[in-house]
Amino acid sequence: MTRKGLMLGTILLAGFFTTVAIAEESSVEMGQKLFNDPKLGGATSGKSCGSCHANGKGMEKAGKRADLDAMINRCVVGPLKGQKLDGRSVEMRSLKMYIESLAN
Ligand code: HEC
Repeated sequence: MTRKGLMLGTILLAGFFTTVAIAEESSVEMGQKLFNDPKLGGATSGKSCGSCHANGKGMEKAGKRADLDAMINRCVVGPLKGQKLDGRSVEMRSLKMYIESLAN
């Protein structure tokens, strides 16, 4: 193998493991924490998701919504007065995992 090829391989491998590490950061537990975090998305209203949806009560069907991302962001931008979360962010993925877990 050439030196260039080795270097490229190393970079690709590092990228792969970084991706795996980021993917592992999202979890139901983190989603639950963020759900009760009044600073989510830089929120400035002092409210967290849990202020209105205490323990996610009544959201048992929400995890099946095709527009879950949009619903979450509507509440982040609206009542929380925060910034939209990126759909691929650890925050968004964790929140979705938490909300989906409420179905059980
Ligand atoms: C000020 C109260 C309030 C806060 C705070 C709030 N929500 Fe909501 N949320 C609502 C209301 C009211 C609805 C239902 C009305 C509607 O559809 O817009 C709703 C609906 C939803 C739904 C759809 C529920 C369903 O059963 O389909 C989701 C998902 C949701 N909110 C997530 C969140 C998340 C995540 C947060 C935190 C970022 C949050 N909400 C913060 C009031 C709030």
